[in-house]
Amino acid sequence: MHISAKDLAALIPADFTLGVATAAFQIEGALTEDGRGTAGWDVFSAKEGAIVDGHSPAVACDHYHRMPGDVALMKQLGVDSYRFSLSWPRIQPNGSGPMNPAGLAFYDRLLDELLANGISPMVTLYHWDTPLALDDAGGWMNRDTAYRLGEFAAIAADAYGDRVARWVTINEPATVSTNGYTMGLHSPGEALMVNALPTVHHQLLGHGLAMQALRAAGVPGEIGMTNVYSPMVPNSINPLDWMSAGLMDIAQNRLYADPVLTGQYPDIIRAAKFFGSFDHPDGDMEIISQPLDFYGLNYYMPTKVAVGPGEGAVPATMAEAMGSDLSAAGNGSTPFHVEAWPEADITSYGWPVKPEYMAVALKEMAERYPHLPPVIITEGGASFEDIVVRDKSTNTTFIPDERRLKYLSDHIESALKATAPGGDAEGIDLRGYYVWSLMDNFEWSAGYNQPFGLLHVDFETLERTPKASYFWLQELIEERNLAAAAGAAVAQAASEEPDTAVDPETAVSPDDGVTTSGATA
Ligand code: BGC
Repeated sequence: MHISAKDLAALIPADFTLGVATAAFQIEGALTEDGRGTAGWDVFSAKEGAIVDGHSPAVACDHYHRMPGDVALMKQLGVDSYRFSLSWPRIQPNGSGPMNPAGLAFYDRLLDELLANGISPMVTLYHWDTPLALDDAGGWMNRDTAYRLGEFAAIAADAYGDRVARWVTINEPATVSTNGYTMGLHSPGEALMVNALPTVHHQLLGHGLAMQALRAAGVPGEIGMTNVYSPMVPNSINPLDWMSAGLMDIAQNRLYADPVLTGQYPDIIRAAKFFGSFDHPDGDMEIISQPLDFYGLNYYMPTKVAVGPGEGAVPATMAEAMGSDLSAAGNGSTPFHVEAWPEADITSYGWPVKPEYMAVALKEMAERYPHLPPVIITEGGASFEDIVVRDKSTNTTFIPDERRLKYLSDHIESALKATAPGGDAEGIDLRGYYVWSLMDNFEWSAGYNQPFGLLHVDFETLERTPKASYFWLQELIEERNLAAAAGAAVAQAASEEPDTAVDPETAVSPDDGVTTSGATA
């Protein structure tokens, strides 16, 4: 069971954003249309064996052609905000130099459509689709890519700055470095292991330069960046498991969050010899750690860590879903590995469903970073295989995705309770939760096999069908709006009729023979 929509709505503070999220490469399709340049991901995903079942991103959800319909579905859902990313190669085909007017125009139309429907836009500048020309020049191994992202931010500020409410400079640099450059599971498909470390610093510098460009342009929207966070849990009381979990925490969480929030890489990274592999000029850390208007956090799951190589770097279900045995990660020789969580429900990705760790993630963030800006959960969601039920007599379709619905309800509840007064992470000013994702889409190396959507997408017909989780979120938002309207009406009445309001503390009972305002004995 999960909490009722009404009870969950009652936990939502004022000015809390409920939104949905997507990313350009995962939904747009139209990869060769209207002057879009080539992305590294276009080339990577065409490689034999790179994507599970050889799925292609060429059409994806065809959002490029169906955008107005998708916005109408968001309007019907009632969300406050939509988080989407700009396709860099669609706007600036080579990642430097001339822009593509047709690409710029697409996001113009999208922004106008959102605003016309009362949906507040949150724009991610970089959600992994690096222009191929930049990848060919070394991608994130090349410091120059950071400057190109800064330049792209200036272009976006100029074109859209008047309409964007929130900016995310960069999404999950940890996933780009780990999957793209360390293990070769994502574009550009490099398995450089520890030699991938320069990609960490260059992406963070790219964030800082993008932020400087947005600030210099004077955009009125709030600016932040997004890191993924997974609490690391030792597999046993073996101290080596604890040390392994600590190292994973540094490699996956703190390596990306500390520089942005404290201006320093973790001590152990600075002490280790390989720090030389991302030596940097003076001044970089100031650029990276500029004050943020908000901190974006993506939370999906905790990670259980054990010492030694185990039977694989990650549990078999996870490796299979990602389409790799992770042998590039040195299978059989890694100093530690990710363990399965036997007692936990798992998603079809093999990810453990542990909503209580949503609260742990927020608590750890609050403890680690006392000066944390307001936090927005910029992504959370789950992939489960869906069953499409067709009722021929009424010609209706029903998708009972109860597990996704429960995942979302439990995680939002956990986050709200943790950050409420008296909660484990009460120090965090939590401002929103964005569901990943509005619709089923191209899940990177997993192709179309991991559906995260509130909307089911039939990848043959491209038809969208709302799932039970979509109707649940719709109800939650309606309940939230009703509660807000009722609260506003009470406040209004109190302000208009101060003399007739009865203060329960001082009101006397009719038995006293005294007349209270508005009541006669
Ligand atoms: C990414 C999304 C991805 C989702 C589910 C996040 O890491 O930002 O692009 O689809 O997780 O894997």
